Amino acid sequence: MNATENLCDIIIFGGHGDLAFRKLLPALYHLSNDGYLDHRSRVITTTKVAMSKEEHITLVRSKLQEFLSEGSFVEEKFMRFKEQLQMVVVNFKDKQSYQGLKDLLEEHPDRDRVNYLSTAPDFFGLICKMLSRWELVSEKSRVVLEKPIGRDLKSSRVINNEVLKYFKESQVYRIDHYLGKDTVQNIMALRFSNRFIMPLWDSNNIDHIQITVAESVGVEGRWGYYDQYGAVRDMIQNHLMQLLCLVAMEPPCSLEADSVRDEKVKVLRSLRLMSPSDIEQKTVRAQYTHGSSDGEPVPGYLEGEGVRESMTETFAALRVDIDNWRWNGVPFYLRSGKRMQRRNSEIVIQFKTMPYSIFANKGSCISENKLVITLQPKESIQLKLMNKIPGLSEQMRLQKVSLELNAPLNMEHKPDAYERLLLDVIRANPTLFMRLDEVEAAWKWTDVVLEGWADNIVQMKSYSAGTDGPSAAIQLIARDGRSWHDE
Ligand code: BG6
Repeated sequence: MNATENLCDIIIFGGHGDLAFRKLLPALYHLSNDGYLDHRSRVITTTKVAMSKEEHITLVRSKLQEFLSEGSFVEEKFMRFKEQLQMVVVNFKDKQSYQGLKDLLEEHPDRDRVNYLSTAPDFFGLICKMLSRWELVSEKSRVVLEKPIGRDLKSSRVINNEVLKYFKESQVYRIDHYLGKDTVQNIMALRFSNRFIMPLWDSNNIDHIQITVAESVGVEGRWGYYDQYGAVRDMIQNHLMQLLCLVAMEPPCSLEADSVRDEKVKVLRSLRLMSPSDIEQKTVRAQYTHGSSDGEPVPGYLEGEGVRESMTETFAALRVDIDNWRWNGVPFYLRSGKRMQRRNSEIVIQFKTMPYSIFANKGSCISENKLVITLQPKESIQLKLMNKIPGLSEQMRLQKVSLELNAPLNMEHKPDAYERLLLDVIRANPTLFMRLDEVEAAWKWTDVVLEGWADNIVQMKSYSAGTDGPSAAIQLIARDGRSWHDE
């Protein structure tokens, strides 16, 4: 059991939405049971429709049973957690409807307040304004914003400016749940605590880097949202860009939030903006057609519920160049898609070939070393090396081996990314959250690609559901004499 942390009220706006049930409430259940959330702290969910306290508790119980990992729901633990649950009806647009929330929060006016806006971004500014009008924003308030913030730089500025009228930048926590994944944080540990990695991490030794986030699922009933955004806005502008930053950034001068974020933003500002011909040659967009998933037939993007006609990409692959001293000449290949063959998220650092091989004529070729950081489905870090095949053969023969760098897990329950991040907001530690300038720099780069696509510089390709994406993505990397790591 750990020492309990700050006493606070956590208010989830959109408290009966998909994210709240799938991720936020399960995370808070664990934090509470593991002693990270004081039992006096309250979890207040806002809803549109009134229901009794009992109905609310029954609903949360059933959702936790559905979404907690197997064996995690324990009735006894839930009985304790339910004492922390409160529900209040708020209609975001109606000022009077905030009265109930005001009454509840004023029972403990001195507490820290975490306002989690698990709503469409269009409501971010409005909710913040209402909170301010009701005098519910204090020095001890924080606001958490879900990604994507806006659809481009312009709309993200409008939203951020509105929020910043009522909260200071230091009170705004822009969440990207990839930063809460343990293996993602491990990138910094790996890079900055291992002497043998440090001198190899640059264009002298690294040939290229691949970042893949492939999902086997489709849009899972989120058509309304997804069709407005697509793979670049939903995944690349945030999750993949953040991974790229952690891999590419210079060592920060400390682990203080701003030191880390200063280094990340420098990477984003060094991304080479694409010209129209770059967009044509270095980007691929595609939509899935019918195919199969887990052996079952599945409809194409335009054949399922919801969408009939759309130019929204469900897959994107891009070559990204970073114009700075460390990475000059080292391409970063990014790809992400829905309804791919398998769920697989990984970062592959591919090192250069040996300058000369003394084994070349002896029937053994040397494969390039790779560092493979897998985030999903199973977290792992592997270093791919060469060594000798044991035995007495006359000629020395080589084989590929893999060194596993995984720390043994001595934990009953492995915390989910949202647990880490919610705990950081409770502790008021913004290191793993995106600062305004990071979000803007990432939009500035992606806007150029999206505008090129809107001008039809690149045709929309297709791929069958359940495959590795369109052949154009293979050609994208093959054109540079390379191939995707698909082991
Ligand atoms: C979300 C996207 O941010 O990340 C979803 O909106 C996507 O479309 C999800 O499915 C993937 O998260 P994870 O942690 O399952 O890789």
